[in-house]
This record gives sequence, structure tokens and C-alpha cells, in this order.
Amino acid sequence: MAKKNTNFICTDCGNNFPQWNGKCPTCGAFNTIKEFKEAALQDHKKNIQGQDLRQTKTEDDQMPKVQRILTGISEVDRVLGNGFFPGSVVLFGGQPGIGKSTLALQIFAKIETTKVAFYFSGEESVGQVQNRKQRITTTNKEDVVNIFSTNSLEDIISTVTRHRPDFIVIDSIQMVGLSGSSFGSMSQIRENAEVLVKLAKATETVILLIGHVTKADEIAGPKVLEHLVDTVLYLEGEKNSEIRLLRSPKNRFGSTMEIGVFDMQSQGLQELKNPSEYFLAERAKDAFGNAICVVREGVRNFLMEVQILTVKTNFGNPRRTASGIAMSKFHLLLAVISKFTPFKCHEYDAYCNVVGGFRIQDPAADLAICAAILSSRAEKEILADTVIFGEVGLSGEVRRVPNIDTRLTEIAKLGFKKVICPPIPKGQKVPPDLTIQSIKSVSELARIILRKG
Ligand code: TYD
Ligand code: MG
Repeated sequence: MAKKNTNFICTDCGNNFPQWNGKCPTCGAFNTIKEFKEAALQDHKKNIQGQDLRQTKTEDDQMPKVQRILTGISEVDRVLGNGFFPGSVVLFGGQPGIGKSTLALQIFAKIETTKVAFYFSGEESVGQVQNRKQRITTTNKEDVVNIFSTNSLEDIISTVTRHRPDFIVIDSIQMVGLSGSSFGSMSQIRENAEVLVKLAKATETVILLIGHVTKADEIAGPKVLEHLVDTVLYLEGEKNSEIRLLRSPKNRFGSTMEIGVFDMQSQGLQELKNPSEYFLAERAKDAFGNAICVVREGVRNFLMEVQILTVKTNFGNPRRTASGIAMSKFHLLLAVISKFTPFKCHEYDAYCNVVGGFRIQDPAADLAICAAILSSRAEKEILADTVIFGEVGLSGEVRRVPNIDTRLTEIAKLGFKKVICPPIPKGQKVPPDLTIQSIKSVSELARIILRKG
């Protein structure tokens, strides 16, 4: 007797409810609860799991020393927490055209030389994928073609179960499915993910699952998928910049703090060994509204340029836009400056841009953002050899940030001479060519900028 199982799932938080609701009782989002029927889905799962998957599960119960699968691309390996964990499912998201297929193909090509790797494309033909692979990789084994073009999840499962590859790419989760299911729907994506997670665990195969994102930058069927997989990788970048950042918002086998930095070129994504130099390459040294900060991501420090433009509002409410920092942070820092310095901002439009398409999360950039706002408002440029860092509190105080020593080393390495930052702890080594100007509040910062230096 077919059991007709109707579920209501929130597309935002992924929670399940027995009935429809206008507002999700868990996450509070409106109009996100969608109905889907599970009857067909259950039948499919029964058919597939009944065969090889269960049998192979017995092997991996002891805990031998796990050998991670390295990609040979150091930026990727670091973000993953030293390579792929065998049997893990990695969801790889990003905007269309950002370079997901390119990077996945580069990883595939590198792994293929040492391990067995398969590439299943649901979007492109074998010829197209091959062609791209030849363009972006120099060493390729042309005689063995482990690239397949298919939309059938059954075929993928059979192939993987039979050949037991170490690593597979599925491009993309939205473009493969079990026969009979409707492509691109919430239920199909969830169903695919569930089946693939089981397949990965049973065969010890690493699955790199490419997923498209919606306009709101979420992988379609967003949180539902993130709960199911072991690791989520996200490739991001601005449309008019070649810089691509690889982040890992969820990682069961490593830190989520690391980022990988790439430069998109005609030969695919190249690792960027010295990102600070790249970010600062085109800066205008004598323009006002610009400030250099040092931000820390994972174990690395980057020097980054923040640009602010403030102009008198013509009418109505002032306009604010921020690219590269959170809008709420921008509002907060404008408010702090209006309150604690003579430079009121409430009648000024303010625009913020972080050069190179980087999205700053480190609060150490607060002080540089404030400095750029003040510099733009006062129309006084900040000296070109100065780096500014420190966290700014709601009462206009400047707070200490961690890892001062490595930040100072990075600043000195790139030839800067002066640092404006919170007081440095006693005993802290300062590189010999750096002059430190310690400040405790944004009002001190305003005085420094007015003096132009
Ligand atoms: P792609 O990997 O197909 O994006 P996604 O799979 O995320 O949709 O990348 C497509 C873009 O990347 C396309 O606009 C062209 C650009 N690109 C390069 O600049 N250099 C390259 O070597 C390749 C392969 C792509
Ligand atoms: Mg693609």
C-alpha cells in the first residue's frame, strides 16, 4: 500500500512540519514553507539501497589512521583542513559563472594523477569538459577519460559502486536526479543529497557536489543541504574583479576560518601567493577617503584598501551603500563618528568599497574604515605609508585586536612605515622600521587626520 507522506519544509532553515504555515515557527521567515510529497522518493530509495550500498558499509567501522586526499592546490587543501577526508561530501556553491566548474575540474585533474577520480557533468558534454580541462591543466592523461556526461543519479551510483573511485565531482546537484523526480525542485535536491551522502559513506568516495546559488547567495534548497553534507565550500568574488575567494562556512574536518585566494585567468584559477600586493597594486596614493588596514583571515594577514566617499545629501534620507563590509557595521561606524568627532555624517551620503572584491569580517578593520570616513569628510588624505588597524567600540574607544605581532610583520614586509593602532602590549616586538602611533579613541584619530598624518 503506497503511503502518501506529505511534508512541509522550510526552505530557509530546513525544518520539517506536519502542516503548512505562513511563518516558519523555527526561524520566523515568512512564506518559506513548501509542501513536498515523499511517497515517490521513498520508493526510489528502496530500489537503490537494496543492492550494494549496505554490503560495503561493514569495512569502515574500525578507526585506522585516516589518510587525507590532497588536491595539490595548496589554497584548496588549506581551506579543507589539509585535503579531503575520505568518504566526505563537500558541497561547493557559488554564483553562476564564478568558476565552480573550473576549480572543480582543476582539483579533479590534479587528483586524477595520483588517485582514481571521476567527473560527472550534468550540464556540459564530455567534449566540452575535456576541452576545458586541456586548456586549464598542463599535464593530462588523455588516454584515460574519466569524464562522463549524465543526468541520471542511478547511473552515477552504479558507476561509483562498481569502480570505487577515490574522488568524484558532480556538476551540479540541480542537474542530476533519480528517474521520475522533477529537476531543480526542493525535494529532488534533498533526495539527491541524501542518496549521495549514503553513497559516499558506503564507498569511502569523496564527493564534490557543485550547487548553484539563488539570488540571495544561498545554495538552492539552502540550509537543507548544508545540514546533510560534511563540508560546505563557497567560491565568491565580485563581477568585475578577477579575485576569487574560497571559504568554508561549515567544515566537519577543519577550521572554518581559512580562506583561499585565487586569481581567475585564461588558464583557470591561479593561486595568489601574495594577496596583499595584489590588493594594493592600483591604489591612488594621494586621494582622500582611502585607508589601508590589515585584516586576518584564518592564519594569514592581508593588507587591504578601504575606500569611502561621502557627499552632502541633496534631499531626503542620506544614501548608504557598502560593498566588502556588512551594512550594519557601516551604519554603526558612521554613527560612532557622528557622535564622537566633529564630523557629523547624518546629512551625508556615504559609500564604502573594499578594493579587490574582498569581504572583510575582521573587526580590526573598524579603525581604518573610520579613518577613511574621516578622511573623506575632512578632505584630507591619509599618508600613503600608513596602515591603520583596531576594533572600534560603541563609545568611540579603540580596542586591541589579537595577533598584533604577525600583523606588524606583514605591514613591515610590504614596506609601510607607520601604523596607527591601539596601544601595543608591553614587551611586544615591533619591526625596526615601523613607527607606531597608539590611539585610544576615534576622536584622537580625527585629530591625527586633520593634522594630515
Ligand atoms: P565556470 O567554472 O564555468 O563557472 P560556474 O561553473 O561557477 O558557473 O566559469 C565560467 C567563467 O569563468 C566564465 O565567465 C569564463 C571564466 N573562465 C576564465 O576566465 N578562465 C578560464 O580558464 C575558464 C575555464 C573560465
Ligand atoms: Mg558550471
